Amino acid sequence: MGIYESWILPWVIDLSMRNKEARRFRERVIPLARGRVLEIGIGSGLNLPFYSGAVEQLLGLEPSPQLVRMANRRGERMALPVEFLAASAENIPLDSRSVDTVVTTWTLCTIPDAGAALREMRRVLKPGGTLLFAEHGLAPDPGVQRWQHRLNPLWNRIGGGCNLNRRIDALIAEAGFRLDGLETEYAKGPKPLSFIYCGRANPA
Ligand SMILES: C[S@@+](CC[C@H](N)C(=O)[O-])C[C@H]1O[C@@H](n2cnc3c(N)ncnc32)[C@H](O)[C@@H]1O
Repeated sequence: MGIYESWILPWVIDLSMRNKEARRFRERVIPLARGRVLEIGIGSGLNLPFYSGAVEQLLGLEPSPQLVRMANRRGERMALPVEFLAASAENIPLDSRSVDTVVTTWTLCTIPDAGAALREMRRVLKPGGTLLFAEHGLAPDPGVQRWQHRLNPLWNRIGGGCNLNRRIDALIAEAGFRLDGLETEYAKGPKPLSFIYCGRANPA
């Protein structure tokens, strides 16, 4: 990993994800988490303020040590204990059927094999468990889609592997989830970057 990925990108991620629009979706999904919760790609911990008292244990999976440090500091300030898993979502180091809620926000765009990661999320979820998500991805409008496909190679390089054109609802369904309450909309901002899929899903 180069200097950009190791030292600059974590700060870019923290700053760029601290915006009001992202907060609007965090407020919508994170308070629904309960029980033993696994957050995938916890990043700098920006979801931490939105977890409710219904969370019994919070596990934060994150491959970047720099982001783990930031999330750890944020968790300590809030007196919210987080147990970190230094791992990749395609290979979650947890037992099958051991988690009540899996949370993923703006992470499925970046995980190299998002399908494998979602199958792992399904594996670790208990049968009655819930996947909560707020993700950006492929827009429904052909004109916006054209820009998403066109910009993707450049965006992928400057955005640490982020993809603009993943069909998030299809990826979730193909991994064996039943979507429950999917909401989609353009958030404020440039349309190729801001089509949001937000909702919940259960193991089918
Ligand atoms: C745009 S950031 C979002 C961070 C955080 N989820 C949020 O909502 O602010 C993308 C996150 O995905 C993480 N990520 C990238 N590849 C991953 C992988 N293979 N497994 C798990 N997380 C990954 C990055 O380290 C980063 O924390």
